[in-house]
Amino acid sequence: MEEIDDDVIRIKEPLSVKYEIPAALHRFDGGKVLLFENPKETGTRVVGGVCGARHRILKGMGLTAENLYEGIIHATKNPVKCKVGDGPVKEVVEEGSLKDIPVLTHFEGDPGPYITSGIVYTSVSGGEQENVSFHRLLVLDERRLAIRIVPRHLYRLTQLASEAGLSSLDVSVSIGLHPATMIAGSLTAPFGVSEFDVVNNFHGGSLKLTRCEHVDALAPADAELVLEGKLWIDEKATEGPFVDLSGTFDVQRQQPIIEVVGVMHREDYIYQGLLPAGSEHRLMMGMPQEPRIWEYVRGVVPNVRGVNLTVGGMGWLHCVVSFEKFREGDPKNVLMAIFAAHPSLKHAVVVDSDIDPFDMQQVEWAIATRFKGDEDLLLVPNVRVSSLDPAADQEKELGCKVGIDATRPMFKDPKGFRRAEIPVSEELRKVLSKYS
Ligand SMILES: Cc1cc2nc3c(=O)[nH]c(=O)nc-3n(C[C@H](O)[C@H](O)[C@H](O)COP(=O)(O)O)c2cc1C
Repeated sequence: MEEIDDDVIRIKEPLSVKYEIPAALHRFDGGKVLLFENPKETGTRVVGGVCGARHRILKGMGLTAENLYEGIIHATKNPVKCKVGDGPVKEVVEEGSLKDIPVLTHFEGDPGPYITSGIVYTSVSGGEQENVSFHRLLVLDERRLAIRIVPRHLYRLTQLASEAGLSSLDVSVSIGLHPATMIAGSLTAPFGVSEFDVVNNFHGGSLKLTRCEHVDALAPADAELVLEGKLWIDEKATEGPFVDLSGTFDVQRQQPIIEVVGVMHREDYIYQGLLPAGSEHRLMMGMPQEPRIWEYVRGVVPNVRGVNLTVGGMGWLHCVVSFEKFREGDPKNVLMAIFAAHPSLKHAVVVDSDIDPFDMQQVEWAIATRFKGDEDLLLVPNVRVSSLDPAADQEKELGCKVGIDATRPMFKDPKGFRRAEIPVSEELRKVLSKYS
C-alpha cells in the first residue's frame, strides 16, 4: 500500500472484486480515495471513495462550505446547455457485454454484483425532456441489468414513453466521473431539465457530452466507462435484497431490465466503485438536499449558519440546523420548515448559531445543556417518512417525526449557557503547538 498524494492511497496487493475491495472501502470509509491497482479477476483498475469526504465534493464543485447552498440553488435555476462532441470515452467502442467489467459484490447476502456509481441519462420526445439520476443496477447476466427505479423523474419518463406507445427507452449509464459531474445524479432539477446542464455551472460551462454509438442517448465525453442500454419498461426481474443507506437490506422487488447493447470506455479505463451505506452514498444523497432545507428555513428566520444531513443519520434521516434565534417561538417553526423541505426526514435538531452543526459533539452538548424534554420536543405521529427506515411502516411509509429544540431559552440569563473558556496567551499557544 502506498500513498500517491495527500488524498489517494494506491493498493497494489491483488484484492478480489467480491467482498475484498468492498471490505477495504469499508475500512477506509470517509477517508482517502482508494485506487486498487491489481484486482484479482481483471486487468482493469478500480477506484472507490472518490466522493466519500465532504471537502472533496466541495473542491470538485469549485464551491466552499459557505457558498454551497447558494451555488447549488443558482445552478439548479440556471442550467447551461452542454456542448456535444467526441471525447476520451470513445477511445474504445464495443458491442454490449458486462463480462470484463469488474463490478463489485459488496455484502454477504447480496444477490450478485451491483453497479452502484452509475448515473443514468435518458430523454423522451426527441430530447425535449431529459433526466439524469443515480440507480443501482444488479448484474443479471452478461447483457442484462435490473434497475431500481423509485417513482421520481426517470419513472415519470418511463410512463410518458409508455403513453407514447414505446416499450423501451434508450439510456446511457456513466461510470467514473468528475465529482462535479457525478452530483448530477443526485440533484433534482425541474422535471425535464437535464442535470448535466445544471452541473455544467460547476464546470464553468465546459462540460462536454457525447452521443452514444448504439443508442440515442448522451453521456459525459470524459467518462471512464459508459454502458449503452435499452431500458425495457415492462420487462421485469427480481431486484434485491440490496443493502441501502441504512446498512440494512432493502426488500426484493420486480424492477425493469436494462439490456446493454454497447460499451464505450477509455483505453485504460478505471472502474469506479461506490460502497452502499458508506459515507459516499450518504453524502451524495444528503448534500444536494441541504440547500432546499436551507431555503425553507430562511423563509422562517433570516440567519442560518448551516444545515447538516448527518452522515450518522444516513445523510437522509437526521438533520441539524444552526440558526440565530430572535424570538422564543422560532425553533418549532424552524423544525416544521425542515420537515416540510425534506419529507423523508425522521429526526431534526435545531441549535443556536454558536453551535457548529457539523460537530456532533457540540450538537450533543447543546442537547445536554439547552433542551428540556417536556417543553422542547415536537412529535408528529402518523406522518410520511422514508421507506428506508426499518422502524417505520415501510409499505405505507408512515412513521413519527421528532423535532428537538436545543436552543437556549431566551427568558433565562444567557450567562448560564455560555461555555467557559481558559485564556491562552500567544506565548502559551507557541509552547503548546510544539506538542501537537
Ligand atoms: C449512490 C446513490 C444511489 C442511488 N440509487 C438509487 C436507486 O437505485 N434508485 C433510485 O430511484 N434512486 C436512487 N438514488 C437517488 C436518486 O438518484 C436521486 O434522488 C436523484 O436526485 C433523483 O433524480 P430526479 O430528481 O431527477 O428524479 C441514489 C442516489 C445516490 C447518491
